[in-house]
Amino acid sequence: MFERALDLAHHLISRRVHPGALVADATAGNGHDTLMLARLVGPGGRVYAFDIQEKALCRTRELLAREGMAERVTLVLDGHENMGRHIDGKLAAVMFNLGYLPGSPDRQIMTTAETTRPGIGEALNLLEPGGLVTIVVYSGHRGAEEEREAVVDYCLRLDQQQYTVMHTNFINQAHHPPELLAIRFRPGPGQ
Ligand SMILES: C[S@@+](CC[C@H](N)C(=O)[O-])C[C@H]1O[C@@H](n2cnc3c(N)ncnc32)[C@H](O)[C@@H]1O
Repeated sequence: MFERALDLAHHLISRRVHPGALVADATAGNGHDTLMLARLVGPGGRVYAFDIQEKALCRTRELLAREGMAERVTLVLDGHENMGRHIDGKLAAVMFNLGYLPGSPDRQIMTTAETTRPGIGEALNLLEPGGLVTIVVYSGHRGAEEEREAVVDYCLRLDQQQYTVMHTNFINQAHHPPELLAIRFRPGPGQ
């Protein structure tokens, strides 16, 4: 059921995202999360999917085309730290799946604390009340622990009046299993 942080992220996202919603995949990669979001928003919704690698967006485009979902998705070749430049409207959910492009021989290109932190800030600025940000964070590869610490540090400082933050860890697994952070923008009274 919840064998991995990503499974849990998908579960939370599927509870939050309804047909017609506007959402973002902050790290498109091979497109699996984008595809899941595209299915959830339906033909009346929209997914913005960001990546800094053309190769990642090509793979995502191919996957979406194969699954007949391409028309629901806007692919953006830009960093998620610039999300606000591309999106007009409030988002129901944003997914981050950090690290490098799976299956790519070039592991030099990966998310880093310098851009992930402002990226999460952008996502929170764009979130509608009740909206959700999920972040799957790794610590096993080079540079990942530094990014993990920066992300956790950023999240634990968020104002509890505005945000509920959950941090999930699989504590009996070897080899640095991925962790999940989930941030909910608390709706104000009457929202
Ligand atoms: C682990 S992969 C994402 C996996 C993907 N969600 C999937 O379903 O296949 C991380 C991706 O983040 C991308 N990335 C790195 N820095 C980024 C940034 N600043 N903005 C957006 N994407 C970035 C990498 O190029 C890589 O493709």
